Amino acid sequence: MKYDTILVLDFGGQYCHLIGRRIREHGVYSEIVAHDIKLEEIKRLEEKFNVKGLILSGGPSSVYEPNAPKPDSHILDLELPILGLCYGHQLIAQIVGGKVEPAEQKEYGIAYVTIDKPIGVLAGLNKREKVWMSHGDTVFSIPAPFEVLAHTGNCPVAAFRHKEKSIYGLQWHPEVIHTKNGEKMLRNFVFEVCKCEANWKMEGIIENMINSVKTDVGEGKAIIALSGGIDSSVATAIAAKALDNRLTAVFVDHGFMRESEPEFVKYVFQRFKISLIIADARERFLAKLEKVIDPETKRRIIGEEFIRVFEEIAEKTGAEYLVQGTIYPDRIESGFRKFSDKIKTHHNVAGLPLKMRFKKIVEPLRDLYKDEVRKVANILGLPKEIVFRQPFPGPGLAVRIIGQLTTEKARIAKKADRIVREEVEKSGLEENLWQYFAVLTDTKATGVKGDARAYGYVVAIRVVESREAMTASFAKIPYAVLEKISTRITNEIPEVTRVVYDITHKPPATIEWE
Ligand code: XMP
Repeated sequence: MKYDTILVLDFGGQYCHLIGRRIREHGVYSEIVAHDIKLEEIKRLEEKFNVKGLILSGGPSSVYEPNAPKPDSHILDLELPILGLCYGHQLIAQIVGGKVEPAEQKEYGIAYVTIDKPIGVLAGLNKREKVWMSHGDTVFSIPAPFEVLAHTGNCPVAAFRHKEKSIYGLQWHPEVIHTKNGEKMLRNFVFEVCKCEANWKMEGIIENMINSVKTDVGEGKAIIALSGGIDSSVATAIAAKALDNRLTAVFVDHGFMRESEPEFVKYVFQRFKISLIIADARERFLAKLEKVIDPETKRRIIGEEFIRVFEEIAEKTGAEYLVQGTIYPDRIESGFRKFSDKIKTHHNVAGLPLKMRFKKIVEPLRDLYKDEVRKVANILGLPKEIVFRQPFPGPGLAVRIIGQLTTEKARIAKKADRIVREEVEKSGLEENLWQYFAVLTDTKATGVKGDARAYGYVVAIRVVESREAMTASFAKIPYAVLEKISTRITNEIPEVTRVVYDITHKPPATIEWE
């Protein structure tokens, strides 16, 4: 089935993904595409989707900069409705010969616009609307056949439309919650202007995903690396429904997983008819890691060894297809929206760089955002421990044990991690937290246990709030919770004498210690 689709052209704005998500929340599919997508490419996409409209996103540039990102010069000739937001609004004005110049007064934050004509995208709005603005340039005039729909004191053309064609521009950001009626504006565009049907619904999507795995794999065999995280778990569940025992799911236990993780994965997936392999590779990993101290070397070795173990198993099963839990932002971020600065080597089972040749990589979740994957997980009945799992790094506790790795340290780190999870979850704080975990530092400190001197490890507690992990703040959780964690760790783990709390934001720190 083809979904009615709105394409969002990405001009680098920080809210670009938000536009896509807002549209999907209304049951209409949206896809983020490169800002300079060619018209032929849009036509090609129509084989897959019913493209019903385009949104030109905001962006940090000024339309006058020599290298300012520009869309295909014929974009306005398409017979498709177009909505420009912020930079997108200025771009359209510039293309049609309007006057766009730096504003005397830049507007950032809440602003009030006067709606002169409540029609089209602005239908049903009040005379005065509270909106979110963030711009340096302003559209001062726009030629016929365009007309002005809204203005502010500093911004004479805050919204416009083409009188005959469905082309609109808004200087503000309807996708941001501070724009009070932003949802109505997007709804107007999607349903009234583009005439979309809300056919992007979870149950239908799941059925489509299962069918597409069936089509891709045919009568063949597939394999997936299952980490127990939400993405690989949901991808496994979908592929399991399509393939039953022609799917092999491999959980590689490198020895630095959370306590009881292999048993938990086994328990969750026993109700599917797949062939589940829990590969106990603990000794193998430890042998490679024993003398390693440098964090990046640890990460690289774990990543490489993981692939090796997985490949050996894949070869034995004779699987011709590889299923991966890649989700939509993974694809976009590694495509045209790359982050340039490498801070850490991330190891992620969704993107295994295998040497093996598979007939095809099957990615059932490739079009979904994280919140949509959670909805799918819920509908498929996966337990809430999976649905609301905190992110867990691929190298696991190995990057939370500072310095040399040993079996003893792994055992201590696992226990401390369990205690932190239990206490935070008991306190009910976890809903607002991005991650909460323990780090086993390589410092030792003196303490007193019973009446005797003790000399043991220092455990650090890391609890952070974050939206997308690019930045994070340490969480100011109550002392009572910290006290409970500290007491339990020092009581239940004899090797630990001291517990400290990490009060560093990201930046300058990162979330994980290594
Ligand atoms: P940092 O430590 O760079 O972490 O602030 C940002 C987020 O990414 C998670 N993380 C990883 N996730 N593979 C992953 O899939 C990895 O190798 C990895 N390393 C860190 C980290 O937990 C945090 O949420």
